[in-house]
Amino acid sequence: MQMHPSLKPSVAWVTDLTDKYRFNPFIRAAVHVILLQLALGLVSVVLFLVGIQYAQDQTIESISVGIQEAMVTGATTTPTNFETIIDGIRAQTVTLAFVGIVLLNLLFGFLIARFALWPTRNSLQFQKRFIGNIAHEIRTPLAIIKTNTEVALFDPKIPKDVRDTFEGTVTELDRISETINNLLSFDTLTRPRRMPFEPTDLGAIVELVAERHQALADSRAVRLETRVGKSRMVEGNQTALDQVVTNLVKNAINYTPADKDGVVTVTVGHDGPGKILLSVADTGIGIGQKDLFHIFEPFYRGDTSRARGIGTGTSGLGLAIVNEIVRLHKGSINIRSTPGIGTEIRITLPGAKGAGLNDPLDKNESDTTNEVSLDFSS
Ligand SMILES: Nc1ncnc2c1ncn2[C@@H]1O[C@H](COP(=O)(O)OP(=O)(O)O)[C@@H](O)[C@H]1O
Ligand SMILES: [Mg+2]
Repeated sequence: MQMHPSLKPSVAWVTDLTDKYRFNPFIRAAVHVILLQLALGLVSVVLFLVGIQYAQDQTIESISVGIQEAMVTGATTTPTNFETIIDGIRAQTVTLAFVGIVLLNLLFGFLIARFALWPTRNSLQFQKRFIGNIAHEIRTPLAIIKTNTEVALFDPKIPKDVRDTFEGTVTELDRISETINNLLSFDTLTRPRRMPFEPTDLGAIVELVAERHQALADSRAVRLETRVGKSRMVEGNQTALDQVVTNLVKNAINYTPADKDGVVTVTVGHDGPGKILLSVADTGIGIGQKDLFHIFEPFYRGDTSRARGIGTGTSGLGLAIVNEIVRLHKGSINIRSTPGIGTEIRITLPGAKGAGLNDPLDKNESDTTNEVSLDFSS
């Protein structure tokens, strides 16, 4: 069938719109909200009309009953209770309408939240899965390139400039690998079923992580200290908590200037009833107020992280992962930082059942200290 030329623009417009509806989650959400609002409006109008009708019917009925009674008794004045009856009808209608409107709004609020936020949630989930899949895809070829380059470096005959290039390549590949690994753990974190919780020795994790980072600390002449108290058992996931400690310790060492007698102190101890505290404190460059509110966002890197003499950070994913893991553990995070003096990140985690000894930690404060807290415990 041939389409009339004047119809073509409108058909194109409709097609365009349906495509947008199908492929753009935000358009879909907007359409759902508008339709539900429209439905709410229509139902409200119907309710309003029914209410008026009801009030009128009741009034007319009571009037006619009154007149009939007056005719039977032969009275010439209106019955005295007429006004009371009509007032009663009015009050009844107002109450019914009020209850009806409140219930309707609740119902539609629920429907709007459900149907409007659904597409957005789906697209967020898709995004996370997408990141995870890409990271998986890139990991293998990356490992192959790295192995091949390292094998090539075994050859003693290769010229010095080629060797330098290859060595640079290996360093950069390590950096990409770290980013990929961070992305992969982000992916794991979004599927918490892969993360079993059990009583875990946070103190042991801290000692292990400190051992693994001793070489990095030595290379920057930073003293790395651990203070592990008797209360150290938390309810959590070993691998995830290892990553929390690793990311914090790595930051503390990297953001402390090299060869300036820096100190990084990692503490584990009791923190209020049923809670265990992990504190990572450094004497490093600190974090400005402006950065403090953003450092937990994925890919955010502070201005200072590019300063000279500061160890290379990775991708800005480290603290985003810490944040996600602490949230899954229903813990809380508190950061205090003074630019030029240092940073302390305190993380509180639920203790394992039966942990409850006391070894409180002292804290030092100053006027220029910036602070931000995130609490996921409730
Ligand atoms: N201990 C610290 N001292 C100073 N700045 C820090 C510290 N830890 C984190 N930061 C700041 O927070 C930002 C985000 O940290 P992170 O998520 O680990 O990313 P990355 O270290 O890869 O840059 C860093 O770029 C840095 O500016
Ligand atoms: Mg980092």
